[in-house]
Amino acid sequence: MAKIIAGIGSSHVPAIGAALDNGKTEEPYWKRVFSGFEKSKEWMAKTKPDVAIVVYNDHASAFSVEMIPTFALGCAAEFPPADEGWGPRPVPVVKGHPALAAHIAQSVILDEFDLTIVNKMEVDHGLTVPMNLLFGQPKDAWPCPVIPLAVNVVMYPPPTGHRCYMLGKALRRAVESYPEDLKVVIFGTGGLSHQISGPRAGLINSKWDKSFLDNLSKDPKKLTRIPHLEYMREAGAEGIEMVMWLIMRGALDDKVDEVYRFYTVPASNTAVGHIILENARKASGTRKVAGKSKRGSAGKSRQAAARTSIHRIASKGTR
Ligand code: DHB
Ligand code: FE
Repeated sequence: MAKIIAGIGSSHVPAIGAALDNGKTEEPYWKRVFSGFEKSKEWMAKTKPDVAIVVYNDHASAFSVEMIPTFALGCAAEFPPADEGWGPRPVPVVKGHPALAAHIAQSVILDEFDLTIVNKMEVDHGLTVPMNLLFGQPKDAWPCPVIPLAVNVVMYPPPTGHRCYMLGKALRRAVESYPEDLKVVIFGTGGLSHQISGPRAGLINSKWDKSFLDNLSKDPKKLTRIPHLEYMREAGAEGIEMVMWLIMRGALDDKVDEVYRFYTVPASNTAVGHIILENARKASGTRKVAGKSKRGSAGKSRQAAARTSIHRIASKGTR
């Protein structure tokens, strides 16, 4: 069975990508930022996931005001880097995992989370910058396949934090019902506090960010009750990107080991936050399946029923 073994939270500041692409990582301003990811790259190299699910947001690169999916799952075999105005970033094409992605789409949709399925998509800094921060700068290929999950946090109304957290639980049920033994990590990306336009441009709220990270680790349910207006007021208009971290957190055990954290300000207009949470190793194997709520088990049996009917339809067709 496939298993989500860890969650990674990471900012996606586009200027970090520009610093990497233009060889500025040794400049003191950027060294401060990149030094916080050295241990994480070592952790990732040791962890060697088979697949990464990257929850991120598109910034009007693949989508636009013409089409605004709330949750869009990348089911394609590959996702080229998008041209965000300066040509595509010089990073490898992101290879997908179409089989696991199709399984996740089926499982999560039958579990009543209506994802949009995307079979062709370019990916912007929202995905490629966190990839660089955790996997470095490979020349030819990223070390593992990636399933992108794009979340609308750009146009009102974005999903609630609670919806994101519950989607994380549905993703976990999906992964754990995939028969192949795969080690999966899940990224929650974006944030932390920032506002890039208007009279409050430049807003950073470190106190609020740090409390968000504390609760992400210890009391994520508390975070699911934060309304959008509080994100906007306390973390700035673009701070709403932080709801994506709750998808990652929902996909993990209630109790996790925080194995690493890094926070620095500023990078461009943004507070850079980073956390690595592992599912408790001791409990693995005997651990109860997450989402054992009434809702979870109801979702499961509905899914099982739907699978049976799909099987019946399929076998009828072959008769
Ligand atoms: C900045 C941050 C973002 O998250 C983004 O998508 C664009 C710009 C910034 O800090 O400049
Ligand atoms: Fe952003």
